[in-house]
Amino acid sequence: MNEHTPSPQQRAREEELIETVVGSFAAAPDARLKEVMQALTRHLHAFVREVRLTEEEWAAGIAFLNAAGRITDERRQEFILLSDVLGVSMQTVAVNNEAYGDATEATVFGPFFTEDAPFIENGGDITGGAPGRPCWVEGTVTDTTGAPVAGARIEVWEADEDGFYDVQYGDDRVAGRAHLYTDEDGRYRFWGLTPTPYPIPNDGPVGKLLDAVGRSPMRASHLHFMVSAAQMRTLVTHIFVRGDELLDRDSVFGVKESLIMDFSEQAAGSETPDGRDLGGRSWSRTRFDIVLAPASEPTNTRAEAQKGTDR
Ligand code: BEZ
Ligand code: FE
Repeated sequence: MNEHTPSPQQRAREEELIETVVGSFAAAPDARLKEVMQALTRHLHAFVREVRLTEEEWAAGIAFLNAAGRITDERRQEFILLSDVLGVSMQTVAVNNEAYGDATEATVFGPFFTEDAPFIENGGDITGGAPGRPCWVEGTVTDTTGAPVAGARIEVWEADEDGFYDVQYGDDRVAGRAHLYTDEDGRYRFWGLTPTPYPIPNDGPVGKLLDAVGRSPMRASHLHFMVSAAQMRTLVTHIFVRGDELLDRDSVFGVKESLIMDFSEQAAGSETPDGRDLGGRSWSRTRFDIVLAPASEPTNTRAEAQKGTDR
C-alpha cells in the first residue's frame, strides 16, 4: 500500500494537469466525444492519484495492453474479455437496458456469437452433432402486455460438453448454434444441449491476470439467446441452470436471479415432447418465457449492430 500523502502544493500541481488535459478537449466538434474524453481523463487521473501509481506499474499496465493487442484477432477478442472480467461489459449492459415492466433481463453478449448460424424450423436441433446431453427448450415470446410476438427471431448458441464453442475448434464446423422464429402464437421450441460450465479463454494476458488475483475463469453453465422483433428492444441474454455451483461466482458477473431456470432431468428412454428417439439417452428439459420491452426504450446497440438481416 502506498501511504504517501502529497503536500498541498503537489496536489495543486496534479489538479492543474487534469484541468489542462480536460481543457484540451474543449473544442472537440463532437459534443459527445468531448464529454466522453473529458470524463475518461478525470477518472483515469483520479485512479492514478488514488493508488499513487508507480512508473513500474504504469509500464506493466502498458505491457499488459500490448500483450492483449498481440493476441487479439477476428476470432480472439482479448479486450472484450478484459472488459468482461472487470464487470465493465455487464455495467454497460445495465446502463443500456433499464428495467422495463417485467421485460426479461439482459446479460453479457460474450465473444462467440456468429452472424451466420443456420436456420432451423421450430422443434429443430441446434446441436449439429456437438457432444452433450440433449435438452428440450421451449417457451414463448410476448410483449410486456402479455401479447404474443409472432415471427420474433431467436438466435441461440452454446458450448458443447467439453466446454468449447464450435468457433474455438479452428476448423469450419458449425455446431451448437442456430436461429429460428416464433410461430403465430409467439411460441418456440428446439433441441439443444444441457448447458455445462466452461472456462473463458484463459491462455492469454487476461487469464494471467485472473491467476494473479486468485480468480477462476469458469463461467456458470448457460445457453445464449438474442431475440429481436419489429418495434421491440433487442434482448441479449442467457439462461442459467438452477443448482449450478458456479452461479455465485461467474467469471464475467453475468448471472441474474431471474435468468436461472429449472432444467429437469428426464430418465433415459422416457418419452420426448416430439416423439424423437434419443437412442436410450437421458435428456433434460427447460422452459424460458421471454418478455420483450418496446424499442422506444434504450436499445442494446452492440446487439443491433450484430443482428442478422435475413428476415
Ligand atoms: C460467453 O458466455 O460465451 C462468454 C462471455 C464472456 C467472456 C467469454 C465468454
Ligand atoms: Fe457462453
